[in-house]
Amino acid sequence: MDARIAVLAGDGIGPEVIGEAVKVLQAVAGYFGHHFEFRDGLIGWAAIDGEGSALPESTVALCKSSNAILLGAVGLPARDSTLPPGERPEVKALLTLRRGLYANLRPVTLHPALAGRCPLKADVIGDGIDLLIVRELNGGLYYGQPKGRTGDRAVDTMIYSVPEVERIAVVAFEAARQRRKQVCSVDKANVLATSQLWREVVNDVARRYPDVECRHMYVDACAMQLVQNPRQFDVILTENTFGDILSDEAAVLTGSLGMLPSASLGDGTTPLFEPVHGSAPDIAGKGIANPLAAILSGAALLRYALHLEREAQTVEKAVSQTLSDGLRTADLCIAGEQAVGTREMGAAVIARL
Ligand code: IPM
Ligand code: MN
Repeated sequence: MDARIAVLAGDGIGPEVIGEAVKVLQAVAGYFGHHFEFRDGLIGWAAIDGEGSALPESTVALCKSSNAILLGAVGLPARDSTLPPGERPEVKALLTLRRGLYANLRPVTLHPALAGRCPLKADVIGDGIDLLIVRELNGGLYYGQPKGRTGDRAVDTMIYSVPEVERIAVVAFEAARQRRKQVCSVDKANVLATSQLWREVVNDVARRYPDVECRHMYVDACAMQLVQNPRQFDVILTENTFGDILSDEAAVLTGSLGMLPSASLGDGTTPLFEPVHGSAPDIAGKGIANPLAAILSGAALLRYALHLEREAQTVEKAVSQTLSDGLRTADLCIAGEQAVGTREMGAAVIARL
């Protein structure tokens, strides 16, 4: 297959981790006889410095004409604070790029070899954690109007409409069908009107999936249950802000935020694949960042953008094997373990493809 992939490495550790993900995708293309054309675009501070905008028109055009976008990280906290809030790269660039991509999939898997890095006790972990957060990405507080500041008051608006909830619920139920057939919809329906609507619509969609079990949980309870009994969850379906918070919480269950990939999908908008972690400026340029979230985002790209399931699994299995063989970047090391660098980790995955 021929595919065009827009590569937006971005800021901080973005270029380092994306470099390894691209090498893995190139190796996969070689083995399976595909032709992937990687085209670089500027985003974040690299783009502000080069073109005066965190998301230049040239990058938007590049993304539009690509089959998928592979993104590293955007933003540098020390410099972000010099800009007005609406101009900060993660808002300006990322939230603009995500428009049209309403379904954000964040799979949370604790690899058995990393059980020692999971902050939970062995009896809570059992034989592993494997859940999928389906986060609504185009609505809620992030985009709702009115939004802004007037004098000593500020406002953000939580808005959801029936079609917005329906389309993300369908994504969650379809995903559950491919998994353990359980959806837990997370909201705050005891307080929020948007959550009451959310619950109503999710129940309507659930009737179309009699083979999938559906239940509801308040977000505060879910935050607790994620650390008390994470194995009860298969698919967690939730709105934008709750999904943002719960996915960071869930990420540490996998041993490191450096393990979590994500896919952002819509209808007719170029899909976006990015690690859940940020630009980590404190370790940027040192060659020690964990590239696995970026590499696994590459696997998600193969699966969801190019529909190359066998190739996606090949990458995921190589990552598992690399971890089973004991390779660890610094973030994954427990006392006494020897860390490998970003490039060594990437090379180790390629060697196991
Ligand atoms: C994420 C990030 C973003 C979000 C920020 C950088 C805008 O935290 O992808 O989870 O809140 O969605
Ligand atoms: Mn987040």
